Amino acid sequence: MGWPVAHSRSPLIHGHWIAHHGLRGAYVPLAVQAGQLEQALRALPVLGFAGCNLTIPHKVQALSVLDQIDPIARRIGAVNTVVVQADGSLRGTNTDAFGYIESLREAQPAWVADKGPAVVLGAGGASRAVLCALMDAGVPLIRLCNRDGDKAQALVQEFGAGVQALPWSERHAALQGAQLLVNTTSLGMQGQDALEIRLDALPEKAVVSDIVYLPRITPLLAAAQARGNPIAEGLGMLLHQARPAFSAWFGTMPAISETLLHTVRTSL
Ligand code: ATR
Repeated sequence: MGWPVAHSRSPLIHGHWIAHHGLRGAYVPLAVQAGQLEQALRALPVLGFAGCNLTIPHKVQALSVLDQIDPIARRIGAVNTVVVQADGSLRGTNTDAFGYIESLREAQPAWVADKGPAVVLGAGGASRAVLCALMDAGVPLIRLCNRDGDKAQALVQEFGAGVQALPWSERHAALQGAQLLVNTTSLGMQGQDALEIRLDALPEKAVVSDIVYLPRITPLLAAAQARGNPIAEGLGMLLHQARPAFSAWFGTMPAISETLLHTVRTSL
């Protein structure tokens, strides 16, 4: 469910798994306007849905509509997956933190969480999921840089001393000694401004990760690659966040095959 929803790659991903696992079912985009989320969600059990994903603009509002919210969705402050329970009640969860950490580990298995600080750019919804993922993985310190400093400060209040807010202008120097750099802003996305950041201070072994997946290799990832840093592409998070959702609905944890990867890449 989303508005707009036509651009979503999720029908492609889940449709692939439904066919692969021989399930009789379908994953369909549901265009639902902001004011009609509750009615649409309540219709799910009536219509025989196993659940749904939520995207813009529903992810935060769902917290106040669903019957039960998983702790991870509370911490992230958003729901991306709804599961219809046996009694017709609705449980909300969030698979974005899992999706982020799984994709990072898949792309860079040598990355060790507790080896040093991470720098996270951005303090929006995606950033909250990345912060939870990194804290749970054991990253000792997260330097959070956001254009709007108050938003970064609010996240420090919420997530505690493991997160440190730094001014946006400090993003270049913040890379000193970091083991990971994550862009969670929309900068670098097709049609958006470029992300301006000087990588000089970043150790050569540090992983550079972007959650932007269009283009697949963002200017940030290209710059990182050019100086020899290992990278993790944004498409990984999109694919991996879908896995526990499918599992919650159908009881099987699906895999990301080469065929699926190829299908999604060519759809971009
Ligand atoms: P998402 O759910 O994808 O995280 P969001 O909640 O709208 O989307 O957050 C977008 C992030 O990109 C924010 O951190 C935003 O910075 P502000 O909080 O200062 O708005 C960041 N962002 C977007 N455009 C930006 C720009 N031109 N310069 C710096 N940061 C930008």
